[in-house]
Amino acid sequence: MSAEHLVITLDGPAGAGKSSVAKALASKLGISYLDTGAMYRALTVKALRLKMDLSDEEALTTLCRNTKLGFKEMPDGSLNITLDGEDVSVAIRSPEITNNTHYAAKTPGVRTLMVAWQRAMGQDRSIVTDGRDQGTVVFTDARYKFYVDADVEERVQRRYKELIAAGKKVDLDQLRTDMQDRDQKDFNRAVGPLKKAPDAITVDSTGLTVEGTVAKIMKLIQL
Ligand code: C5P
Repeated sequence: MSAEHLVITLDGPAGAGKSSVAKALASKLGISYLDTGAMYRALTVKALRLKMDLSDEEALTTLCRNTKLGFKEMPDGSLNITLDGEDVSVAIRSPEITNNTHYAAKTPGVRTLMVAWQRAMGQDRSIVTDGRDQGTVVFTDARYKFYVDADVEERVQRRYKELIAAGKKVDLDQLRTDMQDRDQKDFNRAVGPLKKAPDAITVDSTGLTVEGTVAKIMKLIQL
């Protein structure tokens, strides 16, 4: 790994602002952004289209092994996830996918493949990566690790506003229940659970804008 090779990990619960912050941070630093949640979501899109039994871990692992995930650079510099060559960046955000991605996330064989792909993507390029296990499992020797958290009600409100802005119909109580359920599953699974790496710095984004959180992180980074 060269001296210029920089890996920054952002882990944390849903709605903490990780992906917006990671994207803005990567753009500020002029390096790539890796959205690892999009990868688990994309596999779930494929499995649901095939009407697979999502609790069949062997079948899901085989499906994952035979799947090509990629990222396509858009004119504005952002990266859209591709599933076997198809841009599925809109499909992965549906509530159905959000609420079913935990099956892929808890399947050991799927995680092994995803971890290997993520490491390969960070091997020869500098990245800001966001997910649940980036600092604890995937990039254990990352130069900077952050655990991004925020007050639970603020996380729910942020996600609510995001969905409303995207033209979705959302029931706030249902969203709160779904998010709490998703966090519990992320915290409690046997493989790659969400947890703060011992050497990660906690960044509380409560009350902060994306720019405010990025500024807080930039102060902690010495390049
Ligand atoms: O980050 P995002 O909300 O898009 O992630 C969707 C789901 O994918 C998470 O709730 C989690 O179950 C799973 N995930 C994961 N490991 C990662 C990233 C996401 O298990 N590194």
